Amino acid sequence: MSAPEHERALLRRTYLYGVPYRWRCALLLLCIGISTAVALLQPKFLGGTLDAIIQGDLRRTYVLLALMLAATVGQGAISLAETYVTARLSTDLLWRVKGHLYERLVCLTVPVFDRTRQGELLSRIEGDAGAVGGLILRRLQLIPDIARAAVILVLVLQMSLALTGVQLLILPLMYLASGYFGAVLRRLNAANRKLMDRYMSFVQESAAGSREIKALQLEKDRIQGFGALAGQLLTSSVGISVVDAYAGLANMLIGGLGSVTVIGFAAWQIVTGHMTTGQLVTFTAYAGQLAGSLQGITSFRRTRQELLASIERVFGLLDEAAEPAVAPVAKPPPRVAGRLALEGVCFRYESGQPVLNGVSCQLEPGTITGLAGLSGSGKTTLFNLLLRFYAPQQGVICLDGRDIRDYDLAVLRKAIAIVSQDPFFFRASIRENLLYARPDASDRDIERACELANAAAFIAALSDGYQTQLGDRGASLSGGQRQRLALARAILRGSPVILCDEITSALDAEAELHVQKALRALAPGHTIALVAHRLSTIREADSIVVLHGGRVVGQGRHDDLLRDSAVYRRLYQVGQAAREHSNTAARR
Ligand SMILES: Nc1ncnc2c1ncn2[C@@H]1O[C@H](COP(=O)(O)OP(=O)(O)OP(=O)(O)O)[C@@H](O)[C@H]1O
Ligand SMILES: [Mg+2]
Repeated sequence: MSAPEHERALLRRTYLYGVPYRWRCALLLLCIGISTAVALLQPKFLGGTLDAIIQGDLRRTYVLLALMLAATVGQGAISLAETYVTARLSTDLLWRVKGHLYERLVCLTVPVFDRTRQGELLSRIEGDAGAVGGLILRRLQLIPDIARAAVILVLVLQMSLALTGVQLLILPLMYLASGYFGAVLRRLNAANRKLMDRYMSFVQESAAGSREIKALQLEKDRIQGFGALAGQLLTSSVGISVVDAYAGLANMLIGGLGSVTVIGFAAWQIVTGHMTTGQLVTFTAYAGQLAGSLQGITSFRRTRQELLASIERVFGLLDEAAEPAVAPVAKPPPRVAGRLALEGVCFRYESGQPVLNGVSCQLEPGTITGLAGLSGSGKTTLFNLLLRFYAPQQGVICLDGRDIRDYDLAVLRKAIAIVSQDPFFFRASIRENLLYARPDASDRDIERACELANAAAFIAALSDGYQTQLGDRGASLSGGQRQRLALARAILRGSPVILCDEITSALDAEAELHVQKALRALAPGHTIALVAHRLSTIREADSIVVLHGGRVVGQGRHDDLLRDSAVYRRLYQVGQAAREHSNTAARR
């Protein structure tokens, strides 16, 4: 798409946002129209009054003054209405755009989140969303500007063809100036928005990583970093203001040049008896309004360019890849047994090396399958693929014999529960966090899930029990407690498949045993996949899949793998050595 076409497409999309508010737009136009019409009468009254005074006609003078007052009061009332309608319109438009951006945000695919900084997403919702409404309003104001310019043009043409000609000489100059400054401002604004992304990310990261900042004593660095960013933003904002000011100055100079030329020409006309002083006053007042309208029309180009820098970012986010709409499922979802099969699955992240290189394996209902492999061997990635967070580049993944791509996403994600390696909890109570997994769960269901996950005891020991509020990322819980709470959440979800990613890494041996028992109890009705570096967690699994170099290099029970798989044997021996080392250290 060429640049002008791209710009036209952006403008079309922007104006479409105004369509649902067309009646309010019409009302606003009416208000502006009336106040413009009244403003148009004022110079006539002023010039008439002046001529009446010069002629000594007091009665006419007072009538015209009364009319001027009435027009001013009327204009005030209309401007009040105009302000209200403008505020409603811009606020409604702002929240409509923000709503659409947020809807898109929660539906974005995981790869988009991988490559977009959180601060950038926030900055688009907070900083750019207003530009859509801004441009629509500016565009609406353009209509009365054009109408006013046309009416005044007819009026001044009637008064003096020559003077009007002189006045219009400024038009090409204004057009050129607005084109030039518009292009510069668009460029500066685009750079400013990028800086704003960095700034938002920086602040957001500083809050999220507060502990690391303290532990690594990065306070000074961060403050300096903030200062540097703030300095750049300041320079950029001042730059925009300066260019804006120059644009205003250029307009003023051009307008002033027009006025001086017009008055100079008119003075000659008065002296030669072709014009009265009152007519000159009327003409110059109209000429002033005409210059204002022309300025409004030409500066629209500049403002449009400025706002387009933000609008481009708004639509950029709205056009990012979203997951297929989670449509309400008309027919009841098929009963999922939970048989998972991977066939020749190859996968690489957008930014990286191949991670999985032809992985094939099966996970059967009623069994626990362990996944073993070195750190970085792709265990978490495999889980990500099962949930369709990413799509494999090659191979298929089937659930109950059906390609997971053929499932409604809502059905698939209801069928597979995950306890992730770094579980996230919302800023809400423990109970509410659990209810997110199954909103209709009873208190009894919640307690049962927590008992199974060995979480009930520690929750009962908290002073507020299930009502305990969790901080960001579940900050008020210990690592092991978070793991067990995340397991309880997955159990409560009631999915036939449960994926557990390193859920015992932060548990002591006793808690680990409890969790193992719970999973064993759950196994008959579920397909369970279990990732663990501590092989003690998975040694009792019905089957263990060993991942290495992006491939499955062994599958079987613990004892068989110890005998047959060199990779598994090495994982086991390293684990044993580490345990012995820590036991010796503990005894000392
Ligand atoms: N979002 C991502 N974008 C790009 N590369 C990624 C992403 N997530 C993981 N990787 C890379 O993919 C590889 C596999 O990562 P994965 O998290 O699946 O390993 P893992 O087996 O779960 O490791 P661990 O045992 O340490 O949890 C790693 O090399 C990692 O750097
Ligand atoms: Mg992992």
